[in-house]
Amino acid sequence: MSDKEMLYEGKAKILYKGPKPNTIIQYFKDDATAFNNVKKGTIAGKGIINNKITELVMIRLAQLGIPTHFLERMSDREQLCHEVEIIPLEVIARNTVAGSMAKTFGIEEGLRLRRPIIEFSLKDDDLGDPLIPENHILALEICDQEELIEMMDMTAKINDFLRGIFAGIGLELIDFKLEFGRLSDGDEGHFLVLADEFSPDNCRLWDFETGEKMDKDRFRRDLGGEVEAYQEVARRLGISLEVEDEE
Ligand code: TMP
Ligand code: ASP
Repeated sequence: MSDKEMLYEGKAKILYKGPKPNTIIQYFKDDATAFNNVKKGTIAGKGIINNKITELVMIRLAQLGIPTHFLERMSDREQLCHEVEIIPLEVIARNTVAGSMAKTFGIEEGLRLRRPIIEFSLKDDDLGDPLIPENHILALEICDQEELIEMMDMTAKINDFLRGIFAGIGLELIDFKLEFGRLSDGDEGHFLVLADEFSPDNCRLWDFETGEKMDKDRFRRDLGGEVEAYQEVARRLGISLEVEDEE
């Protein structure tokens, strides 16, 4: 990795300059954090699993007509992506009450919502990623109305599709977080694409039969078995975890 120019180190990934102009490499680490970096640890092999799950999800979503930043997986822990300008919002979809929604409204986790919710948080660790209403987003010019509608439309479509995919392997998609970016389109301007990752780090998956949590809540809540849970999600998705090129 040492010959690559590092652009940014996040909590779970490192971004390097890509081999071609306007490309980046996402390197998936085993590091895990929760509660905005208050809790830190590692989940062995998580980077490899999340790289491969993200690859599968991005490819399927592209087939569905969702534009994404993903180009190709390069190795166990790296994927090549278009460089985008990330919109500093976390776009969250919820199908069943859990996590912060349960806490905020004093509702027990597990209540299935009559219809999915799409909400936004401002991507700012120092502020604890606060929930942000749509009128604040527009008034603060974090994105424009067209982008806001597009993000909501894409997220709703992604939710419908992924709920089906996970239901097919016995997992209930409770909620998830997405990030979008602006991809420059020559002198034509830019358009929105799905960026970042989709993995058990940023979604909740509960086993339909046992109710077991199969996502990062195992780490957040000290439940144990996080490696096995991530591996099981990959296995059910038909992903091979045989190491290809670990240094
Ligand atoms: P929450 O219930 O804690 O608000 O989380 C909702 C979903 O978003 C859940 O699937 C976990 C994911 N998430 C992230 O990916 N990153 C974050 O920083 C937070 C707070 C949640
Ligand atoms: N992603 C956030 C963190 O790393 C919060 C979380 O996933 O729980 O702290």
